[in-house]
Amino acid sequence: MIHGNKTLAVAVCPATTDQYDWAHTLAAELGIPLARKDTHEFQFLLICSADGLALKQADENGPGPIMISFTGSTMEYRLKHGGGRSQALARAIGLKKGWQPAVIDTTAGLGRDGFVLAYLGCQVHMLERSPTLAAMLEEGLQRARRAAYTVETAGRIRLTLTDSKEFLQKLKQQDRPDVIYLDPMYPERTKSSLVKKEMRILRGLAGDDQDAGELLDIALHCARNRVVVKRPRLAPTLGNGVPSHSITGKTSRFDVYLI
Ligand SMILES: C[S@@+](CC[C@H](N)C(=O)[O-])C[C@H]1O[C@@H](n2cnc3c(N)ncnc32)[C@H](O)[C@@H]1O
Repeated sequence: MIHGNKTLAVAVCPATTDQYDWAHTLAAELGIPLARKDTHEFQFLLICSADGLALKQADENGPGPIMISFTGSTMEYRLKHGGGRSQALARAIGLKKGWQPAVIDTTAGLGRDGFVLAYLGCQVHMLERSPTLAAMLEEGLQRARRAAYTVETAGRIRLTLTDSKEFLQKLKQQDRPDVIYLDPMYPERTKSSLVKKEMRILRGLAGDDQDAGELLDIALHCARNRVVVKRPRLAPTLGNGVPSHSITGKTSRFDVYLI
């Protein structure tokens, strides 16, 4: 990727010298440069810190760093007070007593929706095509596997770095999931400043998901029970198909395509 005179979009950097070895290994694994924290050479910095991996837009006026934290207070609040099986996401997936479907989350992103579904009992396979986000997810999951409150949930999650379109097209008949979940990027999703910051960084890093309609078509040929697409409350449906029904939550709508 070329941004102005910046030839590489992302570099890894250690927050302190204690994280140097980790940063060095991660940069080699991702095939991206290792940088100093104060550099302006790259569009994004993936910072190895004592608290975990943080992603920062190197732009001086850009938003502060974001982290994936399945063990932090925001996720804990969402798990405890998000409404359990009666929340819109769970109803859209079709969760009920005795049916905890296997879900492929084709747009894992920061992993929040997938983690909630795993907490509610689903086996969740997260797919993410951005190597940077996949590295952040993997590190977040490792921390979740070490914390008493999240170890069981994290145990129900698998993560694969892949383009979901290709992954679904290659899936064997016997591996087809009950539910396929899509939450592609959408402009101006919400007015919350925190989410806005996360979405700005996500969009800057991962792009606009313009192939989401194509992903939906493939998913519809692959899911056993349903495909669920998350949209902003008032947004048009994705692609040309008509959902079987929709479930509207506080800020989002879930379009359900029953197979
Ligand atoms: C809006 S975010 C998803 C947020 C997520 N639901 C959460 O709770 O954090 C969309 C993510 O999907 C990923 N994505 C979009 N299309 C994809 C595809 N075809 N394969 C894999 N990942 C994809 C993008 O890279 C981006 O990280």
